[in-house]
Amino acid sequence: MSMATEKLTAYPVWDRTVRIFHWLNVLCVLALIAIGTVILNAKGLGVSTDGKIALKTIHVYVGYVFAINLAWRILWGFVGSRFSRWKMVLPFGREYRTQLKAHFAGAKANKPVGFLGHNPIARLMVALLFLLLSLQAITGLVLAGTDVYMPPFGNTFKEMIATDASTVELVKPYSKEGVDDTAYKEMRDVRKPFITLHYYVFYILLAAVILHLLGVLFSEIRERNGLVSAMITGKKVFAEKPFDVE
Ligand code: HEM
Repeated sequence: MSMATEKLTAYPVWDRTVRIFHWLNVLCVLALIAIGTVILNAKGLGVSTDGKIALKTIHVYVGYVFAINLAWRILWGFVGSRFSRWKMVLPFGREYRTQLKAHFAGAKANKPVGFLGHNPIARLMVALLFLLLSLQAITGLVLAGTDVYMPPFGNTFKEMIATDASTVELVKPYSKEGVDDTAYKEMRDVRKPFITLHYYVFYILLAAVILHLLGVLFSEIRERNGLVSAMITGKKVFAEKPFDVE
């Protein structure tokens, strides 16, 4: 059968929550990467102290949207529609191993096996992306408490570094007022592993995002199931019934 006469069937796959999560996440991550890059180069760009505080504050506000969206998606993986569930997303379980075998057998025979959900290689990619996003959210939320003293841990860090209970209110970003020097150094030590992780995961995430885009492009060229529009309409198209549909 030629491609032109092939009859395609549309199957629903990504529910509304998954699609909204995906595009909101793209927007947040792009904004966080952009602002993060400016924070990283603040010295070279000649950004003032107030400018740095403003950049970090905006980064944290976008970070809240990003973290809440991510938390909601993680929860949705336990209660959402079939293909949004972790069982169908993460690369574990007997069903996953069966799919992996079918995928490689299909590739070997030059007859790609169609998957309505993520294909088995995509599941590795998606697992990595969720891991990196979660690490950025957790480390970011801790860092938000340290220099700009924003929630959820801002008050805890203020109390940690204030000279006494009466000066907690005086603690402000980039100011030494009401701050105990030794306690401040201790706080910086607590902060250290979080900023280090936030910094390295940023670069790994950049690489993973590029790999993700290449993976989508490569799969779409080979399999032609409408992957990109599926994240908008929720549906993928197949000439034959996909492997993961009963
Ligand atoms: C995909 C998500 C994220 C990316 C790509 C990202 C990226 C970055 C980058 C590149 C920096 C500069 C690192 C440095 O100065 O060494 C940074 C700093 C920072 N990020 Fe994020 N970030 C993300 C999520 C978050 C979240 C969710 C929050 C908190 C709600 C957050 C809070 C912060 C804070 C407070 C800083 C400043 C750290 C400091 O005080 O120097 N980030 N981020």
